[in-house]
Amino acid sequence: MNLKIEYSALSLDTSKRNRKEIDQDIEAVELLINKHLSEPYSVYVYRFFLNNWPELCLMAKCGGKLVGSIISKVETHRDVRLRGYIGMLAVEEKFRGRGIAKQLIGKSLDIMIAKGCDEIILETEVVNKKALRLYEGFGFVRVKRLYRYYMNKHDALQADTSNYEKSLH
Ligand SMILES: CC(C)(COP(=O)(O)OP(=O)(O)OC[C@H]1O[C@@H](n2cnc3c(N)ncnc32)[C@H](O)[C@@H]1OP(=O)(O)O)[C@@H](O)C(=O)NCCC(=O)NCCS
Repeated sequence: MNLKIEYSALSLDTSKRNRKEIDQDIEAVELLINKHLSEPYSVYVYRFFLNNWPELCLMAKCGGKLVGSIISKVETHRDVRLRGYIGMLAVEEKFRGRGIAKQLIGKSLDIMIAKGCDEIILETEVVNKKALRLYEGFGFVRVKRLYRYYMNKHDALQADTSNYEKSLH
């Protein structure tokens, strides 16, 4: 079945949208990510990402319903490098395997590159083979193993974009 998926960034612009619509988007993103990631994030973590980098909260919707989302940020690291960070990514089960995560990651990387990032990093659970393959497909390489990084005691692999085909500079 060929479903029409629409991609958009979260807009917090109250001159263009009413507050209720904005809140609905934020709530849907929080629900989706909380449902699919092992790590429980507090509402403050979401608000930190979404209020500061709404343009890096990308949503995939089908018939107006949120079916996938990626949340990232861009910050200066050690006063010298501009570092992009992919924080959270999830796609509803029924919509997996259709390239939605690939689209979300690709769009997110493009925005971070346009912002002038020197590097882009992320962490994912060592046991999450799907996610590892997905990110490796974009040229991310494993750079660090973070022992018992997650609350479920799983290790994390930290990866960066040394090999991303659309070179960062
Ligand atoms: C990981 C996740 C985001 C993938 O979403 P998705 O939309 O199904 O992914 P895509 O359809 O874009 O697949 C892209 C790539 O992921 C990998 N992948 C997807 N499903 C896979 C599977 N069942 N087994 C192995 N690799 C898989 C493949 O490399 C695939 O590329 P290919 O189709 O060219 O082989 C989704 O499974 C999910 O939400 N999981 C729970 C949350 C999570 O693990 N988030 C990531 C950690 S931050």
